[in-house]
Amino acid sequence: MEKKVIILAIESSCDDTSSAVIVDGVLKSNVIASQKVHEEYGGVVPELASRAHQMNILPVVDTALKRAGVTKEEISAIAFTRGPGLLGSLLVGTSFAKGLALSLNVPLIDVNHLQGHVLAHFVETADTGEGLPVTGKHPTFPFLCLLVSGGNSQIIKVNAYNKMDILGQTIDDAAGEAFDKCAKVLGLPYPGGPWIDKLAKLGDPAKYPFAKPNIPGYDYSFSGLKTSFLYTLRDMLKAHNVETIDELAEKVPNLKEDMCASLQATVIDILMRKLKRAAQDTGIKQVAVAGGVSANSALRQAFIDYGQKYKWEVFIPPFSFTTDNAAMICQAGYFKYFDQDFCAIDEVPFAKTTI
Ligand code: KG4
Repeated sequence: MEKKVIILAIESSCDDTSSAVIVDGVLKSNVIASQKVHEEYGGVVPELASRAHQMNILPVVDTALKRAGVTKEEISAIAFTRGPGLLGSLLVGTSFAKGLALSLNVPLIDVNHLQGHVLAHFVETADTGEGLPVTGKHPTFPFLCLLVSGGNSQIIKVNAYNKMDILGQTIDDAAGEAFDKCAKVLGLPYPGGPWIDKLAKLGDPAKYPFAKPNIPGYDYSFSGLKTSFLYTLRDMLKAHNVETIDELAEKVPNLKEDMCASLQATVIDILMRKLKRAAQDTGIKQVAVAGGVSANSALRQAFIDYGQKYKWEVFIPPFSFTTDNAAMICQAGYFKYFDQDFCAIDEVPFAKTTI
């Protein structure tokens, strides 16, 4: 009987410690420890993130192996997120992966976090009883992928698992960053994206017409929208002669809900218009979405609507593969394993890069 290919993956790029196992192409476990410590600071505190990763990494990896029903001696290779991300956070996962690979004498595979998000569309699950999501049809190459997260907003032409061209990207803030910063102004907890999604369901998306950027090509910009959001609130505070958002909310019915709905609708319109143009110009009809913001319910619906209208085949990831997770890193590692695309033990993590 042929030996099974077993990939263990480690993801620690930001504030989620995660580990996953793929056995012969099928995801068997995907364990995520999210760090709650940042909530009270309204954003990720890098030093606290590194410390929490140190505490979480051993139990998370151990649980991933146990849930997958494999021992560490059976592992064929170890994949890890090399970047981009917070350097202190990445160092924890990278060092752990290196140490384990050395001790087991197995190859090490470095994975670009952003490519991982795109490759989440290839993760395959089976009913393991471990609560993993059911995955559907995978895209075929080439396809377009809108990658939207807290740090990126990009339109990517995916030619192969390891060959991706960025057609356009944000020239300032990312879509998730715009959500998080506007949510903070409204006094919502961090991260604000999911709160905006929730409140937007109760608001009027046409209530506040925010500024939309006029940027050439397929690039994005969200800083003007953020300013427009801020100025709308500032003007309302002045007009009602109050100082805080809560005082304003008492005077303006449905304020937060309408602001969230209008913001969300504007962000989605900005994202989808450029994506539509890229699909038209390239003639590519398979269109995917990835990254943390792809958890947004209205964006997911927009994909379905555009798909119907423009005859796209759309690919929307299961919720648990939208935010940071090791399943997507494991999938990238699985692809690289068959190309023997391994990395040296002295490879170092990187904080910044694109695809
Ligand atoms: O990919 P991701 O988990 O991590 C990084 O960018 O590092 O994305 C996180 C981003 C945050 O900005 C968060 O507010 C946003 O994804 N997000 C959402 C939703 N869920 C997460 N934005 C809008 N609606 C959501 N439901």
